Amino acid sequence: MNLISACIFDLDGVIVDTAHYHFLAWKRLAHELGYELTPADNENLKGVSRMRSLEIVLQLGGVTATAHEKELMANKKNTWFNDYVERMMPEEIFPGVKQLIRDLKSNGIKVGLASSSKNAKTVIKLLHIQNEFDAIVDGTMIEHSKPHPEIFLLTAKKLGVKPEECLVFEDAEAGVAAALAAGMKCVGVGNAQQLNRAHEIVANTADFKISELSKL
Ligand code: BG6
Ligand code: MG
Repeated sequence: MNLISACIFDLDGVIVDTAHYHFLAWKRLAHELGYELTPADNENLKGVSRMRSLEIVLQLGGVTATAHEKELMANKKNTWFNDYVERMMPEEIFPGVKQLIRDLKSNGIKVGLASSSKNAKTVIKLLHIQNEFDAIVDGTMIEHSKPHPEIFLLTAKKLGVKPEECLVFEDAEAGVAAALAAGMKCVGVGNAQQLNRAHEIVANTADFKISELSKL
């Protein structure tokens, strides 16, 4: 029997490569502060909130800052991120993702978006996919960021389904942890080693086959 009745998608790194734009903006901030961020460092920034990401970035450089300075830095990073993102075209959505969402819906599966980003609504509008989801939860609607399960539990509630009926698509270790903490199944998108707690790993979101739903 197919127990999955809803799929919940993370945005950055799952639907579009905005994870790279977040990285470029954090890298630019670190560079300005006098050190370099590596792609390995970036793995820990994925999925977590803007302020938590900033704390991690500052810790990596051994930088201390006042609350006011942190706010200025976070704002600066966000301005750079938005500069990269505003040039984004709908074609930048990962190949096959829009079709996967449509196929899921035509198979009676509800589709939700759960992104820690406060820019999520802007990004999905730029990609012209704001009407593809049955429920959307973003960083402005939650108190606790991933790995806390709040964002996924709220999305399930908005979709009107039980957590155990949900399958989450995530590219971040913190996101996989959040999905599992919510009692959901999880497909990890990307690095198999990094995301080894997920129930299944795919290299790209659209590699997931709907026929797998009944096997999870
Ligand atoms: C997540 C990203 O989706 O959103 C993180 O994976 C990012 O890297 C977080 O820090 C918060 O994003 P924003 O747009 O609110 O700064
Ligand atoms: Mg992500």
